[in-house]
Amino acid sequence: MQTIDRSKLPQLMRREQERFSSTHPKSRALFERAQSSLLGGVPMNWMKKWPGGFPLFVDRAFGAHFKDVDGHEYVDFCLGDTGAMTGHSPNPAIEAATYRLQNGVTFMLPTEDAIWVGEELARRFGLPFWQFALTATDANRFSIRIAREITQRNKILVFNWCYHGTVDESFITLQPSGKGAARRGNIGPPIDPAITTEVVEFNDVAGLEHALAAGEIACVLAEPALTNVGIVHPEPGFHTALRELTRKHGTLLIIDETHTICAGPGGYTKAENLDPDFLVMGKPIAGGIPGAAYGFTQEVADRISARIQTADCDTGGIGGTLAANALSLAAMKATLQHVLTQQAYDHMIALAEEFTTGAAKAIADAGVPWHVTRLGCRAEYLFCKERPRNGGEAAAAADFELERYMHLHALNRGVLLTPFHNMALMSPATTKADVDCHTRIFREAIAELV
Ligand SMILES: Cc1ncc(COP(=O)(O)O)c(C=O)c1O
Repeated sequence: MQTIDRSKLPQLMRREQERFSSTHPKSRALFERAQSSLLGGVPMNWMKKWPGGFPLFVDRAFGAHFKDVDGHEYVDFCLGDTGAMTGHSPNPAIEAATYRLQNGVTFMLPTEDAIWVGEELARRFGLPFWQFALTATDANRFSIRIAREITQRNKILVFNWCYHGTVDESFITLQPSGKGAARRGNIGPPIDPAITTEVVEFNDVAGLEHALAAGEIACVLAEPALTNVGIVHPEPGFHTALRELTRKHGTLLIIDETHTICAGPGGYTKAENLDPDFLVMGKPIAGGIPGAAYGFTQEVADRISARIQTADCDTGGIGGTLAANALSLAAMKATLQHVLTQQAYDHMIALAEEFTTGAAKAIADAGVPWHVTRLGCRAEYLFCKERPRNGGEAAAAADFELERYMHLHALNRGVLLTPFHNMALMSPATTKADVDCHTRIFREAIAELV
């Protein structure tokens, strides 16, 4: 087994940074100009974290590719971290959205598209009732509120190193003491998340049972496989245990399919026959236009309907003036009907298999102690030999410096990976040539390290 030579990293990184800076003068100049109007020179704080010293400024995107302001073209495997899993600006969504842009965008009144989308989501995921939000974060927050209201319990439970958007309760990680505390970097938590939230490791059935047994947990908020700390797959029997234990202890189960919708048209839920009380889906659902949905069972619908007074339903902490707007719904209908189809998934999943095979061979040939894994059309390489069993193990394998080098090396050669971990997503427009391009560059990057 070959280990990587860490002493090479600083020099390799310097070389990549110089190359990035000299070949992207327009992005660099825009970043410098932005310093006086945007905090940290970026319109959204995470954008500071891209490697290279400044982010690329985008000119235009098409399918699985985009061009930056310096005229370089890239294969996009980041795809907006799933928001553009449909490929950029898919035609059916753009046509439907254009009609809506010309005929009214937002009314606080429904359009018929909403019913079509609700019916289609019920068909795909098996949950009968649906509501809409602008982001998956909000769809998670609203589901949690409903769960709290109908169970009359305050606490929720999440898995260690989960990510569900900027949901306050979820920014908690397990500490060496075994207790949960605010996650590193948690900005201004409203209250200590240990008060609102229990946290256990993914795949830890005994820990889950122990946490649920006190009967205080309103809901478990879970991705069916963790996707935000590298991919962590559920072990056989874990989902059965999760469902049985939540039912036994009167806890509702929210399955967040925002990323795992990569598993197929009905997400992981349909593919693996899960049976949640709520299901959340956002990001690509409207072809890149902001929109999200959350669905729930007849029982949840009955229980929450019984508790909402019409006089107060506008101020109950669920909603938003722009939520369920006609533009989002028109784009969702077109995306579900014409873009995220079974045929598209067949193409995307085959490419992700190709990506995984190519990366695995490169890892084996170089003999580095890494592995690559896949969930539907999402592929990811991790800097550890064995698959992590939980978020704690996956987080321990993270390597910030190494990751930055791998990403900047790829970017300098025309490939964009998802930042903050090593994820590649396939869209209906991604091609085998795009995947082969990554495999070649990935090989070169590893060769320089051993
Ligand atoms: C699983 C999961 N749920 C929810 C979200 C939140 O999505 P958004 O940032 O669009 O609100 C994310 C974002 O990465 C996510 O990965």
